[in-house]
Amino acid sequence: MQKNPANVIVMISGSGSNLQSIINKADDIGVNIQSVISNKADAYGLKRAKDAGITTQVIEHTKFSSREDFDRALIKYINKFNPDLIILAGFMRILSDGFVATFAGKILNIHPSLLPKYKGLNTHQRALDADDTKAGASVHFVTNELDSGEIILQESVTIDAHDNATTLAKKVLEQEHILYPKAIKKVLQR
Ligand code: GRF
Repeated sequence: MQKNPANVIVMISGSGSNLQSIINKADDIGVNIQSVISNKADAYGLKRAKDAGITTQVIEHTKFSSREDFDRALIKYINKFNPDLIILAGFMRILSDGFVATFAGKILNIHPSLLPKYKGLNTHQRALDADDTKAGASVHFVTNELDSGEIILQESVTIDAHDNATTLAKKVLEQEHILYPKAIKKVLQR
């Protein structure tokens, strides 16, 4: 993409710790965060964005009667910015085919498992239940199929005997904060 800085939109639903890591490394990665969108009005990540002087927008999925209507509102807002990338950072809604097609090849997601293992939810408990020795996170392109697009980068952590879903989630999240900025940089250097 070789554009510096590249314009990006970040989409969140919650704490936004991955958003924070992208904000902190924005200059190094070469991104300009044009706006942060949350589908939840009380997402803590909105405060992180405001503290960093970034425009925020709440678009609540509960206010729309269908996924497609919600996604049309997202598209309408995002189109004002003409972003180079759309970065999903803990955005907990499945996007419609229409949304994915509108921004084909430009949407990234971070998922807390070593894909293709454990698509969907409860990834840490599922890794523990399977007696896996490693867990981790993956950054991938978003396609129509859940958590299935091309993997850009992964990072693994060792599962220790004393780990539970909470301790494992914490360990993986720490790695996510290093992994996501690296993966974005990699995409932008393609
Ligand atoms: C992360 O574990 C991410 O992999 C998953 O949701 C979590 C978001 O955390 N999709 P945060 O909001 O970035 O703190």
